[in-house]
Amino acid sequence: MNVIAFNGSPHKDGVVNSGLEAMKGELDKEGILTEIIHVGREVIRGCIDCGKCRELGRCVFNDDIVNQCREKVNDANGIILGSPVYYGGIAGTFKSFLDRLFFPGVNLKYKVGAVAASLRRSGGISTFHQLNNYLNLAQVVLAPSVYWEVIHGNNPEEFKEDKEGIQILEISARNMAWLLKAITMGKRDFHPPEPVKREWTNFIH
Ligand SMILES: Cc1cc2nc3c(=O)[nH]c(=O)nc-3n(C[C@H](O)[C@H](O)[C@H](O)COP(=O)(O)O)c2cc1C
Repeated sequence: MNVIAFNGSPHKDGVVNSGLEAMKGELDKEGILTEIIHVGREVIRGCIDCGKCRELGRCVFNDDIVNQCREKVNDANGIILGSPVYYGGIAGTFKSFLDRLFFPGVNLKYKVGAVAASLRRSGGISTFHQLNNYLNLAQVVLAPSVYWEVIHGNNPEEFKEDKEGIQILEISARNMAWLLKAITMGKRDFHPPEPVKREWTNFIH
């Protein structure tokens, strides 16, 4: 079993990465492999709503890491999204990445996911919810914890002092490992619900 974790920070060794490493440590103990992919320093354009992804099953732009990452996500059993809080939201480059990764659809239904937002002071809950939006709409089973997965610190040294934040992420990772195993085993006896034809209603009148 394997999990892909995305670090949306431009700092490869920053606070988000420390949080993802804490989660990876717990997943390792359960025999689950975790690959951390650093996205925050890539050059990634935003979605231009051209709609081509509906035909291609991937983004029309092939000149950055988005489509390669889609293949990795499609092959993985679980996903973690980690972002620093920038002005109360997801960091810009990471937002562009996530819009284009998730919009044409990724193979994440009934897989397991978790998010983490890191910040100095404020804006964690809104960022946590923004990150969860991607997973929820992809029908990912969200691994719970005892508090929102928001961690504090301007650098990894400060983050070490956020004992509660570290524990919140570790609990989330342990729950993720359990869910991954329970879903994999449960599929033998319990089939997932039949897919339904989607209703599509625009409230424009
Ligand atoms: C452009 C920018 C905007 C930021 N906005 C916020 C913010 O709204 N709230 C906050 O608490 N910290 C804010 N920060 C601080 C970072 O979220 C915080 O240092 C974070 O833990 C950095 O994670 P990293 O080391 O993984 O990059 C901001 C930092 C930058 C560079």
